[in-house]
Amino acid sequence: MFAMKHYVAPVSQIPDGQRLITTVNGRSIGIFNVKGKFYALRNVCPHKQAPLCLGSLGGTMVPTDRPGEFEYGLEDRVLRCPWHGWEFDIATGKALFGISDRRVATYPVEIEDDKLYVEMR
Ligand code: FES
Repeated sequence: MFAMKHYVAPVSQIPDGQRLITTVNGRSIGIFNVKGKFYALRNVCPHKQAPLCLGSLGGTMVPTDRPGEFEYGLEDRVLRCPWHGWEFDIATGKALFGISDRRVATYPVEIEDDKLYVEMR
């Protein structure tokens, strides 16, 4: 099945640091503008189906080369589920914890003129 491009909204409707939660092709999705880069993902947490895209966006501690060394990273890319706190990278949809292969669907975003589209099957 081929992915199709779906019009979502004018780009100007999602300013930097904001998000839009909407329905596209029958699915609830969230679109995030992080410093001019757009990310789209399914608005359903794989744990208990919470509206994931209502969660807070921030960063986290990332692995470093040496023990005892700490580094903050992934700023404004970590979406925290509003119900139980599972965290996901909005760029990949992957859960950040453990060895879990849990993930949330992500969708490519395209901008043409002032129009924002997502690709979805
Ligand atoms: S429903 Fe998202 S962590 Fe539980």
